[in-house]
Amino acid sequence: MGDDNDSALGESIAGSLYTASLTSSVFNYTYENGRRYHAYHAGNYVLPNDEQEQDRLEYTHHLYRLLVGGASYRAPLLDHRPQRILDIGCGTGIWCIDVADEFPESSVIGVDLSPIQPSWVPPNCRFYVDDIEREWTYSPAEHFDYIHARDLIGFIGPWKQLLSHIFDNLKPGGFFEIQDCTTPPESIDSGLDLVPDLVQWQLKMFEGMAMLGKESPGDAYGIQSYMTEVGFVDTHVEIHKVPIGPWAQGNKHKELGLILQEHVSDSVEPYTMAVYTRALGFSAEDAQATVERVKNNIQKTEAHLYLSYYFLWGQKPF
Ligand SMILES: C[S@@+](CC[C@H](N)C(=O)[O-])C[C@H]1O[C@@H](n2cnc3c(N)ncnc32)[C@H](O)[C@@H]1O
Repeated sequence: MGDDNDSALGESIAGSLYTASLTSSVFNYTYENGRRYHAYHAGNYVLPNDEQEQDRLEYTHHLYRLLVGGASYRAPLLDHRPQRILDIGCGTGIWCIDVADEFPESSVIGVDLSPIQPSWVPPNCRFYVDDIEREWTYSPAEHFDYIHARDLIGFIGPWKQLLSHIFDNLKPGGFFEIQDCTTPPESIDSGLDLVPDLVQWQLKMFEGMAMLGKESPGDAYGIQSYMTEVGFVDTHVEIHKVPIGPWAQGNKHKELGLILQEHVSDSVEPYTMAVYTRALGFSAEDAQATVERVKNNIQKTEAHLYLSYYFLWGQKPF
């Protein structure tokens, strides 16, 4: 990662895009249980933003691309050549950088609570510190041809409100795409009986996130129906079921299964700590003990667990 203080970053207040030198306040990170968390609108987001978390996010990026033959999107962008692209909750910015390289004539903007994006980026790529749950104040001239969101489910308050902002800030004919995964994991048989700690943890996580004001709208179809309600048309859902562990037939599934098992295992601790300690009132020691039990369950290949990853996109009518 680049030097944070030398990033290709601007700061935006309430969505209005103006580039200013970053105030030091966005770097006043907070620390809990040995992990580093964002400073801008501190407490709004429960995962850390340190190097360890950035490595986890980059691993996820490759996992998503692996599912769809290396593509960054499923909406028909090649037919529409978007001029302005926005990635909300862009994390390390790795998706923006890939897409800026793929569409050098486009302007690609990534926004996030954390200024953790690198300095050396394609010239058509910019990052801004912003809170996407606040009012969006882009002018009509700044509206987008394509808005992208990945791995944001569970971290947003009312989803329908965010989808309305997205809809309003697309140009007519523009696309919105969300790439995410449905939790909790499922099993192809009665395997959930073998992983009671995982099942219990997932329920507690939903409870804790709700206490923090975040909505978990279920699977892709929950978000799809919200999209339709706010006005999107021609929505598509593409689902990829990925085994957790090397239990499925065929080399490709075995390899994906190993990758996902490691990824899910690495995700338990960052997901758990803030939710369990801030919202649910657990001590750090008890939260850590839960993490170990859940990680243990994830190693149970005989539970035949899988996660459903989805790509969902729709268009704003002309
Ligand atoms: C799980 S990470 C996914 C990052 C990126 N989309 C990816 O797929 O690599 C979620 C990101 O959303 C950001 N985020 C969460 N809530 C946000 C908000 N209200 N405004 C802006 N960014 C937010 C977090 O800071 C984090 O970087």
